[in-house]
Amino acid sequence: MSDTVLEIKNMSKSFAKNKVLNGINLSIKKGSVMGLMGENGAGKSTMMKCLFGIYAKDEGQITLDGRPVNFISPKEALENGVAMVHQELNQCLDRTVMDNLFLGRYPVKFGIIDEQKMFKESMSLFSSLSMSVNPQTIMRTMSVSQRQMVEIAKAVSYNAKIIVLDEPTSSLTEPEVEKLFSIVNSLKAKGVSFVYISHKMDEIFRICDEVSVLRDGSMVYTSPTKDTDMNKLITAMVGRSLDKRFPDVDNTPGEDYLEIKNLSTKYEPRLDDISFKVKKGEIFGLYGLVGAGRSELLESIFGIRTIASGEIILNGKKLRFKSSKDAMDYNFALVTEERKFNGMFGKATIEFNTTITNLDSYKTNGILSKRKMYDAANREIKRMHTKCVSADELISSLSGGNQQKVIIGKWMEREPDVFLLDEPTRGIDVGAKYEIYQLIIQMAKEGKTIIVVSSEMPEILGITNRIAVMSNHRLAGIVDTKDTDQEALLRLSAKYL
Ligand SMILES: Nc1ncnc2c1ncn2[C@@H]1O[C@H](COP(=O)(O)OP(=O)(O)OP(=O)(O)O)[C@@H](O)[C@H]1O
Ligand SMILES: [Mg+2]
Repeated sequence: MSDTVLEIKNMSKSFAKNKVLNGINLSIKKGSVMGLMGENGAGKSTMMKCLFGIYAKDEGQITLDGRPVNFISPKEALENGVAMVHQELNQCLDRTVMDNLFLGRYPVKFGIIDEQKMFKESMSLFSSLSMSVNPQTIMRTMSVSQRQMVEIAKAVSYNAKIIVLDEPTSSLTEPEVEKLFSIVNSLKAKGVSFVYISHKMDEIFRICDEVSVLRDGSMVYTSPTKDTDMNKLITAMVGRSLDKRFPDVDNTPGEDYLEIKNLSTKYEPRLDDISFKVKKGEIFGLYGLVGAGRSELLESIFGIRTIASGEIILNGKKLRFKSSKDAMDYNFALVTEERKFNGMFGKATIEFNTTITNLDSYKTNGILSKRKMYDAANREIKRMHTKCVSADELISSLSGGNQQKVIIGKWMEREPDVFLLDEPTRGIDVGAKYEIYQLIIQMAKEGKTIIVVSSEMPEILGITNRIAVMSNHRLAGIVDTKDTDQEALLRLSAKYL
């Protein structure tokens, strides 16, 4: 077919004995967007990494513009018009934006790098995408969402025919998502095609022309987006239908337990005079636009940001945590949003990652018990339904969503009394999300106090008792979840803008 730009036929891939892709076919039309969905560990990222030359496929043929291709490195893929923006960003954080854009293809003049040219080309790239980024900014100083946009710009700069976006919006702000979609649409009009990997249904329906579903390494479903619906996709993904997205929030919050009183922080972004109380056994949501200060608030409670003034009071007792260790001694736990930087030891096993923060409880007569650690890792694998070969597997070899499950499991092991969750279901598939909601509600029923940050409106409305809304580093209001709606939350989140 002449309008097909990419054709993948009968592709298979195993890691040792683990067959991850099983005779997959996929065909992508010129100037169109193919959505790719599937549970955590279904094989989405692996499939695209085989295309992109990061992994060598075991079997199969790839045809690009009618030509058989077999890229053996990302460089070769890029030079032939295939670009990929990864789920876990892999950037040189201490280098500038333009260094990252031109990595591996620096323009050279008289034997030295032509920085002026790099600067000019970076500027014109950003302006063609209507993005305002200074090419000389050091990557580390930018937010994750800005870094993600740089990565997308980089894909565009290669004049790619096919751009793979692997969960591109997981850390983008609302306006940035809109920006991304307008970039995708304008490139589509120029004949560029996309593979769009996402767990977010609304995005799939907005931006994709077709959608395919992978289940356990097999391609089980492909349809034009207009001929399918959410239930069909979920059924294809999990093999059964989910009749509702959220379990019943049937916990009964008790007495006031944790109080935050006039809390302000010392360094930017500075939290300004925040006060609220959370009950024992309550699920307390924190909503706000990205950048409103929600993560900073959790981090301040957890002792990893410097408090300028104010108090944190637990059960009548004033606390002043100087580090996360202090917080953990009081049985606080924090699941962070950026697992790669904050929560995870990539070069270690699932077992290590599960037990590392909790070693004292795996000792027998003062000596670490290998058996207890192994059991703990397996307990959490079972509880979180983590897809892996065994607890000895390196966490870095798990799919993105399954890594997140290991991190949540690690904190579950501590049976925290106050559980702070920052975007806990980011990157997690629909079925597993439901299970995490059940865990959260269960913990609340056991009397744990839970504060959960989420940018997903339906989620925050679906699993909390009350919601505090932050706006520009201040508290804009607190509402009862059953008496509020999306509009009210949005209005509050704009209160101090
Ligand atoms: N480098 C690797 N070594 C060993 N196993 C791997 C490696 N990369 C992926 N796998 C395994 O392949 C399977 C598919 O993983 P993949 O990352 O493709 O899933 P995914 O569909 O992208 O999931 P997610 O939605 O969580 O990102 C998983 O079971 C994972 O453990
Ligand atoms: Mg993935």
